Amino acid sequence: MAPVRIGVVGVGTFGINHLRCFQQMGYMGQAELVAACDVNKELVQQRAQEFGIQAYTDHREMLAKEQLDGITVVTPDPFHHDIVMAAAEAGVHVLCEKPLDVTTEGCREMIQACDQAGVLLMVDFHKRYDEYHLAMREKIQAGDLGQIQYGYAHMEDRIEVPRDWFPGWATKSSPAWFLGVHFYDLACFLLGAKGVRVWATGQKSRLREFGVDTWDSISAKVTFDNGATVAFDTSWIIPEGFEATVNQGIRLVGTLGFLECDSQDRGTRTACTNDQPVQQTHNKSFLRMKKDKQGREIWEGYGIDSIADFALNVNELLAGKSLGDLGPYPSGEDGLEATRIAAGVHQSLETGEIIELAKL
Ligand SMILES: NC(=O)c1ccc[n+]([C@@H]2O[C@H](COP(=O)([O-])OP(=O)(O)OC[C@H]3O[C@@H](n4cnc5c(N)ncnc54)[C@H](O)[C@@H]3O)[C@@H](O)[C@H]2O)c1
Repeated sequence: MAPVRIGVVGVGTFGINHLRCFQQMGYMGQAELVAACDVNKELVQQRAQEFGIQAYTDHREMLAKEQLDGITVVTPDPFHHDIVMAAAEAGVHVLCEKPLDVTTEGCREMIQACDQAGVLLMVDFHKRYDEYHLAMREKIQAGDLGQIQYGYAHMEDRIEVPRDWFPGWATKSSPAWFLGVHFYDLACFLLGAKGVRVWATGQKSRLREFGVDTWDSISAKVTFDNGATVAFDTSWIIPEGFEATVNQGIRLVGTLGFLECDSQDRGTRTACTNDQPVQQTHNKSFLRMKKDKQGREIWEGYGIDSIADFALNVNELLAGKSLGDLGPYPSGEDGLEATRIAAGVHQSLETGEIIELAKL
């Protein structure tokens, strides 16, 4: 059986990881990276040359010409919807970057279109693949913490992410959409629960000084349907001197105990005179690179595993399995739940009210 033929749509900052993942799966006969698409013609041609694949500037043309089994969508948050819909229309399986969409209506349309077409819809919630978080989940499921009552999570990017990496679409996004959804989904995953209501507050000042008109920070308190309440602090204004691009962690407290995970500092530290910042910590669980015997780069970590899982799932489908046989994966429904919380966070920011999530 020939492995899944894959195209990647959006080959900017994070798209490169999708390309790397499928290229190296090709070394093991697990995937064939066939094409890439980006509206930035120069960029996509450069990537296509580097990876030895076809370049497109229109995803519809790529879908029409390449006989693909699957595509991955790595475009800015507001531009996932139409590409996922086009994949469903073409009968092509799809992995979509988080958030699935920035509206619950959009998520529902995407889920319905993929359901009707009988294609796999996965969302790249990589925190579900982090071995530290999986260990937390096992303990929770074993009942070691008793009934979870409350918790706390934080995810914070250095200021260069919204200011320098994508100032063009940071104004259409926020710490809740870009970062929060990771931990809203992780909380749902760890607790085995869905969000019920949310209250949020936020600030806008620091990024405005750089002409980027969006939220600096958002704090949200979410009550889940198992009774637990989790506070989520998200921001993307931490100083450039901080030791990593991302700072993140979670703690959950139950009737019988608690769990804490520093999801950023995995115990690897460097201090090099030529580096900025001089002292750095490295989350090698997320991404790490090694070379194989042929000297080729092999990327590992949960940031790759979550993408690779899509190709492995499509291979199962091509071999005759049904969607129901695939076992657990971050689904369109999971994408909808995280979007529902983020949409509720923003509604609460606008109105100052507590938002009942069932209404969204
Ligand atoms: N899973 C993760 O850890 C992770 C990390 C960063 C970003 N992301 C997500 O990945 C997505 C992309 O983020 P990024 O940081 O790479 O952004 P980016 O701006 O660096 O790259 C996005 C690319 O998409 C292209 N693009 C825009 N509209 C397009 C269209 N209609 N068709 C084809 N290409 C189009 C842009 O030209 C750009 O090259 C976002 O949804 C973001 O939330 C996920």
